[in-house]
Amino acid sequence: METAKVDVIIEKYNGEASSLLAIMQDVQDEANYLPREAVEYISKKLDVPVARIYSMATFYESFHLEPRGKNICTVCMGTACHVRGAERLVEQLERDLDVSSGGTTKDGLFSIEEVNCVGACALGPLLIVNGEYHGNQTTNSVSKLIKKMKKNEGGE
Ligand code: FES
Repeated sequence: METAKVDVIIEKYNGEASSLLAIMQDVQDEANYLPREAVEYISKKLDVPVARIYSMATFYESFHLEPRGKNICTVCMGTACHVRGAERLVEQLERDLDVSSGGTTKDGLFSIEEVNCVGACALGPLLIVNGEYHGNQTTNSVSKLIKKMKKNEGGE
């Protein structure tokens, strides 16, 4: 991530160390994860130790320290979704994207992630694609959605 982009984000919060969490969140929104160079840059600009930034990133589980795909496919593995077949959705995604859950495709276009209940149990089994909820999914509907997304990305 270019430092100029990090600068814009830091500027938005007037360079205040008290806004560190918001700055980290904005950087992640921009890059899809928290790049090491960005962490080091923020540390220097805000005069906050790198270790503190990493400890916050680890404490708030919503932060990702490894690169993630352009498109994030998240399956809810909470109890309600699980009993309605969430596991099968994960397996279908793994087959269609040829990557294991928790991983990112080689072309960097897709990541598969799992979360615990997000509070939309009535929609289970639930697939969240780039933050958009797709309820009552089946292996078939997941496959169709992935096919469409691959096409939009200029693939098969
Ligand atoms: S268990 Fe999936 S939204 Fe609650």
